[in-house]
Amino acid sequence: MTTTQPRIQWLGRWGFVLAATGSAVGLGNIWKFPYMTGEYGGGAFVLVYLACILAVGVPVMMAEIALGRRGRGSPVDAIRRTAAESGRSSSWSLLGWMAMLCGFLILCFYVVVAGWSFAYLWKMLSGGLAAGSVDDMVAIFAANNASPWSLGLWSTLVTVITMVIVGKGVQGGIEKSVGWMMPGMVVMLLVLIVYGVFSGGFTDALRFLFVFDAGSLSSEGLLAALGHAFFTLSLASGAILTYGSYLPAEASIARTTLTVAVADTLVALMAGLAIFPAIFANGMDPGEGPGLIFMSLPLAFQSMPLGTLFGVLFFVMLSMAALTSSISMVEATVSWLCDRHGLSRRAAAWGAGIVLWVISTLAMLSFNVGADWTLAGRHLFDWLDYLTSRWLMPLGGLGTALLAGFVLRAAPMREELGLASPGYVLWLFMVRYVSPLGILMIFVDALGIVSV
Ligand code: PFF
Ligand code: NA
Repeated sequence: MTTTQPRIQWLGRWGFVLAATGSAVGLGNIWKFPYMTGEYGGGAFVLVYLACILAVGVPVMMAEIALGRRGRGSPVDAIRRTAAESGRSSSWSLLGWMAMLCGFLILCFYVVVAGWSFAYLWKMLSGGLAAGSVDDMVAIFAANNASPWSLGLWSTLVTVITMVIVGKGVQGGIEKSVGWMMPGMVVMLLVLIVYGVFSGGFTDALRFLFVFDAGSLSSEGLLAALGHAFFTLSLASGAILTYGSYLPAEASIARTTLTVAVADTLVALMAGLAIFPAIFANGMDPGEGPGLIFMSLPLAFQSMPLGTLFGVLFFVMLSMAALTSSISMVEATVSWLCDRHGLSRRAAAWGAGIVLWVISTLAMLSFNVGADWTLAGRHLFDWLDYLTSRWLMPLGGLGTALLAGFVLRAAPMREELGLASPGYVLWLFMVRYVSPLGILMIFVDALGIVSV
């Protein structure tokens, strides 16, 4: 280990909260959550999702931040140090390797989806989304994916912006950029909700999101909600742990975790309130799937007054949300390259960026020239999503919960968490029993042992 000087910390009081919220709030909230809610039946799904965030997400996030701050290093080093402190095997650092890999692999397909957002922003501005019907929109989406040059251009742009920010460092790059991008995206989201209030579909949207209809509760919905809880909170991907390694000693981990989890959930619900009014006002189907914000929404906006202006606002907001997440996914790798291999921030960022560019370009080709390059029926793009969301994230979450709950000595964890007895006991109970059981359900499903 070559860390000689004390680890850098967030500069401002809100540094960690803004950066971690920036990481959490992303395509998962604005693209995935609304279409999942649409597919799994509205309010019932929302309720199950909230339960998963509280029972599985929050306890694991607290454990990750505690591990990061205790070990003051990249996931690999931080976990090795905390394990050593409790006299445990250094092989626990495998968990750190897995998290780092997971964050990197997510980023390889995330930049492609973020590229869609940039492409649609451009199309909105240049009039490329003028279409008369859903079929036309489907054709525009298909044409966008069919061109490797345009798709590659946009994902490359996302990669470059990400690496420029990360290369500038924790304070000068990440903290500074989230400091204006996060408030900016929240203001834009609020403006879009107000627009939704006047669209005519707002009460339908409210009813859809918040009226609990037990009949639409499904086991697939439950599993999807559970998996999404990890993704949406950026867990088991090295992001939160690494950001936690820059957290000042006096900050309360419980309080910051709750702030981040509540903010992430609010943004997901707000995204629903920005998107569904336009969908309902135009008599469209909320269960449209992944194309919801790229096909139905732009079409809906078109038929509304000032639709182009608000469409532009929507895709600017989405692009910023994606960037504050993408920078967090590569931070674990960059901090590991700097700590371990003595690279400069900039060299580490560009080194990681080149590898990212190669893999994400191959993933992008899944949509066009590489349409036939499948393995066991999946493209690289689908493999990256499947591997990370079905295996690496749950496995990493399980490992983190067990490490923090059973393996490490209680004293250091308790000291980091700084919780008085009832809070600590509750956390321990969740991390020992509730979170692992929830996660096991994902595996049982993925392995197809029993079909739930
Ligand atoms: N939480 C992000 C989202 O909801 O879009 C996705 C994400 C970010 C996953 C960072 C993992 C990660 F490390
Ligand atoms: Na999220």
